[in-house]
Amino acid sequence: MILVTGGAGFIGANFVLDWVASEKSPVANLDKLSYAGNPGNLVSLKQDARHIFVKGDICDRTLVGQLLREHKPAAIVHFAAESHVDRSIHGPAEFVQTNVIGTFSLLEEARAYWSTLAAPEQDRFRFLHVSTDEVYGSLGRDDPAFTESTPYAPNSPYAASKAAADHLVRAYHHTYGLPTITTNCSNNYGPLQFPEKLIPLMIVNAAQGKPLPVYGDGLNVRDWLYVGDHCAAVRLALRRGRPGETYNIGGNSEKTNLEVVNAICAILDEFRPSSLIPHHSSLITYVKDRPGHDRRYAMNAGKMAAELGWQPAERFETGLRRTVEWYLDHMDWVENVTSGAYRNWLHLNYADRGQA
Ligand code: NAD
Ligand code: DAU
Repeated sequence: MILVTGGAGFIGANFVLDWVASEKSPVANLDKLSYAGNPGNLVSLKQDARHIFVKGDICDRTLVGQLLREHKPAAIVHFAAESHVDRSIHGPAEFVQTNVIGTFSLLEEARAYWSTLAAPEQDRFRFLHVSTDEVYGSLGRDDPAFTESTPYAPNSPYAASKAAADHLVRAYHHTYGLPTITTNCSNNYGPLQFPEKLIPLMIVNAAQGKPLPVYGDGLNVRDWLYVGDHCAAVRLALRRGRPGETYNIGGNSEKTNLEVVNAICAILDEFRPSSLIPHHSSLITYVKDRPGHDRRYAMNAGKMAAELGWQPAERFETGLRRTVEWYLDHMDWVENVTSGAYRNWLHLNYADRGQA
């Protein structure tokens, strides 16, 4: 048994689906079902006894303690977080609550549970904390990619809350010996991503003939990784990663935002030819920039390759095509997640941006 947190969100749900498809052990999935958590992501596991879904908050220590005592997991894989940078700018408090206090609560309960285990189980136990490249700050155009020893320099409330969580995880290993592993990953894309993030937002808007809001000059760079590759990397780090270590995970696929949006538009031109919109790129609208917008992220994933033999399997071009196809085939999923609250978010984030 493993305990996954945040397994109804984008990466967590992909991870749980992969896990059940390829591993024998069951998974308990603790998720509070925030706006980003969607039980529909796990509907294919409804009849599968190896998946136990628990609706609850990682900050609820009584619940977490009970779950650990009841299920006796061999590992905790911690995805649960507030994850959207723009939301952290509008309302940072939730980010401190879940990402910092929530991770602290989980660590405390994990430590209490772990201390009751016999020595061999203690050695085998893992607390795997899923983090981000954003903790390292922003790179200039010619700077070398982030390594595991790049100093932390988080710039957004989201990145700062993840950095705080990373430091707590590190301290619990150093002070108490809790066998922790932290993975820091670059931008993910793929099926089941909530359409507030760049790639799904642009696919959905372009498919509906709506403007494609590009922040600033569109030349910010992200390193894109297909979500299935991230899940495989986390599984490997869980199995073979060394306690106390951190591992960078990246796609080796740096793109400017404009390159990404233009690539999505070209795929839609092919899949959804329209006489009204012959070129979906004509929908691109430059809007006011994100405050404190990090210019470039790039990951050196050499340690994952050298120690664990991990490499991304999916190329960006093919992964993006698969992703566009998935969204076009699942517009019902999009309808379900884009409720009134989503429309309120679009208004809050985009209404005052105007055109740059
Ligand atoms: P997401 O926002 O899609 O999903 C987060 C999930 O956590 C949701 O299901 C939500 O309901 C749940 N959750 C939120 N607060 C909770 C709480 N207090 N208790 C229990 N559950 C709670 O996020 P994602 O994009 O899947 O990211 C997952 C993890 O990976 C996060 O820790 C994020 O920081 C990290 N990460 C994401 C990316 C990316 O590109 N998306 C890249 C690197 C790292
Ligand atoms: O780098 C890893 C991080 O990637 C994760 O830790 C975060 O959870 C995840 O949300 C993501 O953060 P970003 O801020 O990089 O992702 P987002 O999809 O929000 O934005 C990607 C880029 O696109 C960024 O430069 C901002 C830009 N952008 C985004 C949106 C939503 C736009 O130009 N227009 C938009 O409407």
